[in-house]
Amino acid sequence: MTHVVTQSCCNDASCVQACPVNCIHPTPDEPDFHTAEMLYVDPRACVDCGACVTACPVGAIVPHRRLEGAQLPFLEINADFYRDRSRDGLPVLAPVPPRLKVRARPTPPRVAIVGSGPAAMYAADEVLTVPGARVDVYEKLPAPYGLARAGVAPDHQGTRRVTRQFDTIAAQPGFHLHTGVEVGRDVTHGELLRHHHAVVYAVGASADRRLTVPGAEAAVPATEFTAWYNGHPDHAHRAFDLSHRRAVVIGNGNVALDVARVLTADPDRLAATDISPAALAALRGSRIEEVWVVGRRGPAHSAFTLPELVGLANAPDVAVSVPAADLDLTGADETSHSLRHKLRLLRELAGRDAAGARRRVVLRYLLAPQRLTGDGVDFARTALEARDGAVHAVPTGEVEHVEAGLVLASIGYRALPVPGLPFDEASGTVPHTAGRVTDADAAYVTGWIKRGPTGFIGTNKSCARETVATLVRDYNEGLLTEPAADVAELEALLRSRRPDAVLGAAYA
Ligand SMILES: Cc1cc2nc3c(=O)[nH]c(=O)nc-3n(C[C@H](O)[C@H](O)[C@H](O)COP(=O)(O)OP(=O)(O)OC[C@H]3O[C@@H](n4cnc5c(N)ncnc54)[C@H](O)[C@@H]3O)c2cc1C
Ligand SMILES: NC(=O)c1ccc[n+]([C@@H]2O[C@H](COP(=O)([O-])OP(=O)(O)OC[C@H]3O[C@@H](n4cnc5c(N)ncnc54)[C@H](OP(=O)(O)O)[C@@H]3O)[C@@H](O)[C@H]2O)c1
Repeated sequence: MTHVVTQSCCNDASCVQACPVNCIHPTPDEPDFHTAEMLYVDPRACVDCGACVTACPVGAIVPHRRLEGAQLPFLEINADFYRDRSRDGLPVLAPVPPRLKVRARPTPPRVAIVGSGPAAMYAADEVLTVPGARVDVYEKLPAPYGLARAGVAPDHQGTRRVTRQFDTIAAQPGFHLHTGVEVGRDVTHGELLRHHHAVVYAVGASADRRLTVPGAEAAVPATEFTAWYNGHPDHAHRAFDLSHRRAVVIGNGNVALDVARVLTADPDRLAATDISPAALAALRGSRIEEVWVVGRRGPAHSAFTLPELVGLANAPDVAVSVPAADLDLTGADETSHSLRHKLRLLRELAGRDAAGARRRVVLRYLLAPQRLTGDGVDFARTALEARDGAVHAVPTGEVEHVEAGLVLASIGYRALPVPGLPFDEASGTVPHTAGRVTDADAAYVTGWIKRGPTGFIGTNKSCARETVATLVRDYNEGLLTEPAADVAELEALLRSRRPDAVLGAAYA
């Protein structure tokens, strides 16, 4: 018997620390942790104790004999990760990160955190390991937890469970949540610093990367569509044209798969989730039967991750297929465990006949958007060319017109500049060293504003740990000025500026 990591692993490594026999890898200190698409249980070493099941915040670990049909592929995916790996030299327990050491100063660390998404919550948790520390989290929306609430797809209720872990963090002494407060509009960096030693910006990447081809303004950004079905206050009122047979999603990352799944799911199944009621009503009236998810490069460069592809391929409501002609494997490094499994599954999907199915997702490759035409998209057929260590899509001159009533652009997110902080336009991030913002007073960054818009919920945990370690080092070295005034004074100021804000709320 063994346990198995399945769909919707959030990579936060809680399971790694809980395991008494160090059988879950990669661990955060191993080089492949930061690129791993999920974590894996070694069936040769698992002692079936279930400690990982309790520790996993998103319910992604299942005992072997309880795996359901759609989860069965993960048994082989977990085992195969260890096929050529030796356990020699592995420590008995996974290394535990060192505890923060704090030098006594007149006031224990008092930290303002801007944003309340995963990066903010993990940073708060880390700061609160320091005795007497205080954290004030300022969130512009009425409800906390960022994309863990407003991004994660409603049919991924297991992943949404991470918000319970955030509730536990928020329930700790020293944690204070202020919702309805936008830093930069309602309060400045300088004002926050009068009351705190430091400000950690965990503001995420709220804008979308823009498609620039002619007619692109007709495409619906996936940022807005996902926010709509999750009931985000800025997008809940939107209406999208679901009256045609086909929708096209440009880009093939995990967000593109989320959108394709939601558009093709049986509305009765979505009704059992916390999807926005307005979106559910619209999806009940939808005529969409087929969603094409289109990548400009080849299958080996699919931006979606293995667990998400397995989830889609086994979704109950939909038939998934790939045209065999699109399976150009140029640049495929099949020594990569997750890529090998992804390509195996894509080849299998290429053999499936989805023609008669009521709802279909078609994964297309080698098509770069050339222009939106009003009735769909003209795609330039591409060929793959390996150059400068990367594989590029080069137009062949052939054009494929794809008719579609709804075109979504799911080509990634992008951060907006933070008032008062430097901003690197090329990467869309705030320049920093180990989390400390370059040329700024007591400012730190964590999460997507620090690393760019990539990675899972749990990736933000090690990211936040690095930032808080830097902050505490600066505190110990006396680089952070003692707060001049009490936080109560700041709350009075905010109350006068934002009477509708909810200040100091205990959220859990
Ligand atoms: C559509 C979508 C679905 C996803 N699904 C999954 C999934 O299923 N599993 C998974 O592991 N990962 C998923 N991810 C990735 C995951 O959500 C991110 O890794 C994570 O949310 C990034 O955390 P963050 O805290 O940096 O940013 P965010 O989660 O975006 O949080 C930023 C917060 O800052 C607030 N804010 C911004 N500016 C200000 C300001 N000036 N003042 C006050 N507050 C402010 C925002 O309102 C927001 O609450 C998904 C991402 C997207 C886009
Ligand atoms: N369940 C989950 O775990 C989950 C769910 C959702 C999101 N997330 C994470 O959130 C992050 C963001 O995801 P994402 O899907 O928004 O972005 P992403 O993973 O960066 O994917 C972006 C996609 O857009 C394509 N693209 C970019 N510019 C383009 C252009 N001009 N024309 C055509 N295609 C273009 C990219 O193709 P190229 O590769 O060719 O550039 C790629 O296919 C990812 O790290 C993702 O894993 C995780």
